[in-house]
Amino acid sequence: MTPHNNAHPLHAPFLRLWYAAPAALADPAVEQACAELLDEPERARAARFHFARHRHEFLATHALARTALSQAHPLPPRDWSYTLGKYGKPAPAPPCGLAFNQSNSVDLAVCLIGRLGDDGEVGGEIGVDVEPFHRAASILPLVTKVFSPAEREQLAALPVADQPLRALSLWTLKESYIKARGLGLALPLSKISFLFGGDEGLRLKADPVVEPDCARWRFCQLDREGHRISLAVETTGRTPPALEIFPAQPPFTEPVLPVPGNASWFPRSGQRT
Ligand SMILES: CC(C)(COP(=O)(O)OP(=O)(O)OC[C@H]1O[C@@H](n2cnc3c(N)ncnc32)[C@H](O)[C@@H]1OP(=O)(O)O)[C@@H](O)C(=O)NCCC(=O)NCCS
Repeated sequence: MTPHNNAHPLHAPFLRLWYAAPAALADPAVEQACAELLDEPERARAARFHFARHRHEFLATHALARTALSQAHPLPPRDWSYTLGKYGKPAPAPPCGLAFNQSNSVDLAVCLIGRLGDDGEVGGEIGVDVEPFHRAASILPLVTKVFSPAEREQLAALPVADQPLRALSLWTLKESYIKARGLGLALPLSKISFLFGGDEGLRLKADPVVEPDCARWRFCQLDREGHRISLAVETTGRTPPALEIFPAQPPFTEPVLPVPGNASWFPRSGQRT
């Protein structure tokens, strides 16, 4: 892999969103090059996919993640391994103070990576979720299953034409949060609410048993390549580091220049309420 010259000084906080389109892996040479960035267990997982488009999605996402990790810490992409949390959340190994999460759809692979604490300490967990806009309407029949009463009330108050997009926002925000927590669907979705409006723009409200400190979380949404991407970042109530966005191209051999994120974080004040 070509070395990048935009690596941060060791221990400086940063937050980066990488994304790439798996479609490039339709070229067998690109697929092969991506597969070579993976380790043996990942290649074995890739080989089990029945459909090529699902294999490409998997390979692109995992090759992207390894590329993002190697850009942040001096280890070759294929030398990373992962330890799994109780509910399957992968953490990069060897541990090096990086927070990390990935998400994929058939047409877009994303990876969020950061070092959030001061002085090089791990300052928080992060989560990311991506969904295509064309999925928005299909979420509406699931609202009673996945959204809280307060979320459903806000959703129902919107004009019908605006409801699919709100549902997509809610879905990806909730996923980004449960992925940051690493607990998957062990978290009761009905006890977690993302509420829109007011001075804060958007805020998390949750049963204290599920989330004792909502104010430690900040959220952001971006739209890229026909997809909505939601980010959840655990902070101590401060604005996260400036988001750098890396649009990458499989097979990830070329250096990628970050583009400005213009990310808006919510709740806006980040103050404890
Ligand atoms: C598994 C889950 C963590 C994410 O599932 P998903 O949305 O299908 O998958 P994504 O593409 O966003 O992310 C998958 C990646 O997250 C990571 N991941 C796996 N388990 C995780 C966990 N417990 N916590 C955080 N990240 C996890 C892995 O890197 C995984 O990639 P891999 O399977 O290729 O190794 C979980 O939230 C889930 O099962 N969701 C089901 C959908 C649902 O009902 N959501 C309700 C939304 S309101």
